[in-house]
Amino acid sequence: MSDIEITEASEVSPGADDVPLLEIRDVTKMFGSVISLSDISTTVRAGQVTCVLGDNGAGKSTFIKILSGVYQPDRGDVLMDGEPVRFSSPREALDAGVATVFQDLAVVPLMAVWRNFFLGSEPTKGWGPFRRFDAETAKKITRAEMADMGIDIRDLDQPVGTLSGGERQSVAIARAVHFGARLLILDEPTSALGVKQAGTVLKYIVQARDKGLGVIFITHNPHHAYPVGDRFLLLKRGKSLGDFAKSEISLAELTRLMAGGAELEQLAHELEREGDKSETSALGRELLDDTKTLG
Ligand SMILES: Nc1ncnc2c1ncn2[C@@H]1O[C@H](COP(=O)(O)OP(=O)(O)OP(=O)(O)O)[C@@H](O)[C@H]1O
Ligand SMILES: [Mg+2]
Repeated sequence: MSDIEITEASEVSPGADDVPLLEIRDVTKMFGSVISLSDISTTVRAGQVTCVLGDNGAGKSTFIKILSGVYQPDRGDVLMDGEPVRFSSPREALDAGVATVFQDLAVVPLMAVWRNFFLGSEPTKGWGPFRRFDAETAKKITRAEMADMGIDIRDLDQPVGTLSGGERQSVAIARAVHFGARLLILDEPTSALGVKQAGTVLKYIVQARDKGLGVIFITHNPHHAYPVGDRFLLLKRGKSLGDFAKSEISLAELTRLMAGGAELEQLAHELEREGDKSETSALGRELLDDTKTLG
């Protein structure tokens, strides 16, 4: 690869790789007089992971709903491969290669794994003519795609509802990869999972990335985001606290920003005075959440 670039430098456009897969510029979204998102910008590159972090009500879901065609922005631009795009429905976004795995995953719990794999992807251009597929072919493809991502589902006839949360996420991710998604959006895929399962899902995120997909990973957990992220967009009450490349921010700084920094430190001190130190951070977080709900 690098040989080609060196020997044929004149034929390789130096700027070609600089065009991000997705660019979000000053996107604003209002609901009546409520500003849900205010001038939000970030980029997603092919083969990279952009993490969107923020507390409850920060605007994370609104943000991905704009990218997946559920909402249209009131102001600002979304560019794909450098060209402005405006998706007026999730179908349009999907056809452009933007696959969103919503938190409820839109799976049918009683349906077999392989059926869920093909669910909801009617034959349209670029998404495979699988209407011709019989069950055996569909199973074979499902097994191969899952295996390709290092996922071993013992029984493809098993109802999806009997899979663990992490396994369900993995089916959804493998499905997006198979149907040719270029951008994979995951809304809090790890939030309901235990440590080990969250780790498994993080591994699949890395695999999707290594296959060249751009990934948007929504989470409120900096410890999940930092190891896999290349870029970090921090949202708070609809505003951007910053859009950082990994080299520009440490895990400690990310955690501090997420936690509300000074606000939390003050609270921690107060709680410390009350006694039991081991409960300080958990209590502090709880209290902050309560304050937000009230105010
Ligand atoms: N359809 C809507 N109509 C009115 N207000 C909305 C709508 N959708 C979102 N909002 C408001 O926009 C703000 C951001 O909501 P959003 O769901 O994007 O937050 P979030 O970061 O995903 O939060 P959570 O972590 O709780 O999922 C909230 O104050 C919410 O009340
Ligand atoms: Mg949300």
